[in-house]
Amino acid sequence: MRQITLINGDGIGPEISDAVVKIIDASGLKIDWDLQTAGADVIEKEGVPLPDRVIQSIKRNGIALKAPVTTPIGKGFRSVNVQLRKTLDLYANVRPCKNLPNIKTRFSNVDLVVVRENTEDLYAGIERQVDCDTAESIKLITRGASERISKFAFDYAIENNRTEVCVVTKANIMKLSDGLFLESFRKVASDYKQIKTREILVDNLCMQLVQNPSQFDVLVLPNLYGDIVSDLCAGLIGGLGVAQGANIGKDYAVFEPVHGSAPDIKGKNLANPTAMLLSAIEMLRYIGEREYALKIEKALFKTFDSSSFTKDLGGTLTTSAFTEAVINNLE
Ligand code: NAI
Repeated sequence: MRQITLINGDGIGPEISDAVVKIIDASGLKIDWDLQTAGADVIEKEGVPLPDRVIQSIKRNGIALKAPVTTPIGKGFRSVNVQLRKTLDLYANVRPCKNLPNIKTRFSNVDLVVVRENTEDLYAGIERQVDCDTAESIKLITRGASERISKFAFDYAIENNRTEVCVVTKANIMKLSDGLFLESFRKVASDYKQIKTREILVDNLCMQLVQNPSQFDVLVLPNLYGDIVSDLCAGLIGGLGVAQGANIGKDYAVFEPVHGSAPDIKGKNLANPTAMLLSAIEMLRYIGEREYALKIEKALFKTFDSSSFTKDLGGTLTTSAFTEAVINNLE
């Protein structure tokens, strides 16, 4: 039986993880879930938020499905998410963003993919307090990581029958750091003549996305812009409750929703498990379980077709009722 690491997170994490595991189990696919806890609750017992056993489990299994983990704001421990991505060198964060059946949004023709560099930029956490009134963060951009993510974006475009890759920077202002990201993209692009390219500044991208998102296909961005723009894109297709994602590296892959641990709705049976379910469906495709991926996707879409929604999408269903509805729609 295939073993997969399951990080059930905190906040709404355990609720949506349970929902997704139930739906996959009900589909008939046998998975041996290797449950690994991480985050603030683990610190008391194990001293760190991301114990080595979690990393070892992913190294053993190659694949993980992950629910969100809370990161304290300001002081406190470093983000488990950032640490995980760095330790396993999960350098590409892939966030497809496509309209879903019967979910009405401002636009009906959104079908784009955000490819976010996942290991450096302002996320590298190189910060210092210069004096009590001044703090600085270093925006780290390297040629190696920039070329690698551009290559990933072009390869992704080819494998997924996409026609254009658009690079997003603020290279007019950050001439060296974003300039290097752009220069690296241009160099890699010259090896992919069959794919169209486009260059856009991140502020203009945001305006274009909320006016006419269907003009975009694959976007490739440094880490921080990728983080912000992918939440914006989630808003185009129904919100964070339906936005899926994956962190891909050379050796390992961790599939997780775009959203965070949503402490405002924790434990209330209100969370929408769709984002995590869509991430799990992509994971099944990734490991070659295409039939089960399709079966579960069909059940999810059938649930939407019958206007069965959780509260974030204007419906009345609880997490558990929505989960049951998807299970009942499995054919
Ligand atoms: P958030 O994504 O948790 O929530 C933003 C808003 O969206 C909230 O109103 C929330 O209720 C709603 N929402 C999110 N997911 C939902 C779902 N599945 N169903 C229904 N509504 C949903 O963002 P926030 O509040 O900024 O972050 C909370 C915590 O999560 C922070 O500690 C943050 O660091 C962490 N986080 C973790 C991530 C990860 O583990 N990959 C990613 C993003 C944030």
